[in-house]
Amino acid sequence: MANWVTGKVTDITNWTDSLFSIKVHAPIERFTAGQFAKLALEIEGERIQRAYSYVNSPDDNSLEFYLVTVPEGKLSPRLAALKNGEELLVTEQAAGFFVLDEIPDCQTLWMLSTGTAIGPYLSILQQGDNLERFENIVLVHAVRLEQDLSYLPMMQQLEKKFQGKLRIQTIVSREKCPNSLMGRIPALIENGELEAAVGLPMQAENSHIMLCGNPQMAKDTQQLLKEQRNMAKHLRRKPGHITSEQYW
Ligand SMILES: Cc1cc2nc3c(=O)[nH]c(=O)nc-3n(C[C@H](O)[C@H](O)[C@H](O)COP(=O)(O)OP(=O)(O)OC[C@H]3O[C@@H](n4cnc5c(N)ncnc54)[C@H](O)[C@@H]3O)c2cc1C
Ligand SMILES: NC(=O)c1ccc[n+]([C@@H]2O[C@H](COP(=O)([O-])OP(=O)(O)OC[C@H]3O[C@@H](n4cnc5c(N)ncnc54)[C@H](OP(=O)(O)O)[C@@H]3O)[C@@H](O)[C@H]2O)c1
Repeated sequence: MANWVTGKVTDITNWTDSLFSIKVHAPIERFTAGQFAKLALEIEGERIQRAYSYVNSPDDNSLEFYLVTVPEGKLSPRLAALKNGEELLVTEQAAGFFVLDEIPDCQTLWMLSTGTAIGPYLSILQQGDNLERFENIVLVHAVRLEQDLSYLPMMQQLEKKFQGKLRIQTIVSREKCPNSLMGRIPALIENGELEAAVGLPMQAENSHIMLCGNPQMAKDTQQLLKEQRNMAKHLRRKPGHITSEQYW
């Protein structure tokens, strides 16, 4: 059974009509970058709980989550309506294995995300620990519209901080815009456009691929990497090249 602690909202940023970030102060136990908490509210006498990835570094005690309001969703619209100073419940202990300790050494680590699933990578990169074993890291954020690139300034800051080790690439699927590729992650891998834009190859011999977000994206990308790049899912008992976390 999860232990719940009470958190207080300290800040809400509304990026677009449907995307927002929420900062919370809560006495949680230390988490590992890449993990998620459960947030909950009591709604009509029932505790409604959902998983949300930490965006902040574990070294930063202002807890940050990046959310999309799912139309007709049970919890996300209620979280979107919270105001500074209001309370919510947070699991005391984080969960999940989408963490660097589960990733084998490789030359290039690809961090691929759709929508709000950029969060775990931002936590890992802001903390910055245990990254020496990768020569290159590529952070990819795929969204519908350019306005959905909420964390682009942070991505750019991180790129600067890592001095050449980190490359960032944005993908926008529903409009053409400068500096972003247009399309979807699996198609842009299949036609070579993602690697060409980044300037690095994505091959079984030198790469590990992290996939996070839309479950159909994760499925389609894994299938493609299996068929076209001879890559396999990474398991502790059978090392491979792909590690994924699906948001629904
Ligand atoms: C490990 C994990 C980490 C997660 N981290 C985040 C996070 O950092 N930010 C976040 O916004 N969500 C995250 N989610 C999704 C989140 O837990 C909820 O499912 C989401 O907020 C919808 O809850 P709801 O009660 O509003 O909708 P529900 O009434 O539960 O409706 C669920 C439906 O909403 C859609 N949906 C759910 N999540 C998303 C999403 N993120 N993007 C698009 N469509 C979605 C799917 O169609 C799903 O079937 C995560 C899920 C998992 C499993
Ligand atoms: N983002 C918004 O502005 C917005 C506004 C209102 C409501 N919502 C709601 O919020 C929820 C989440 O929206 P979201 O935009 O954050 O997440 P999303 O629907 O997962 O889209 C994020 C990115 O993933 C891509 N994608 C979707 N399916 C894919 C697949 N099978 N393979 C590869 N890529 C795939 C999308 O491309 P495509 O564009 O090609 O699908 C988009 O570029 C939805 O329920 C939506 O109705 C979002």
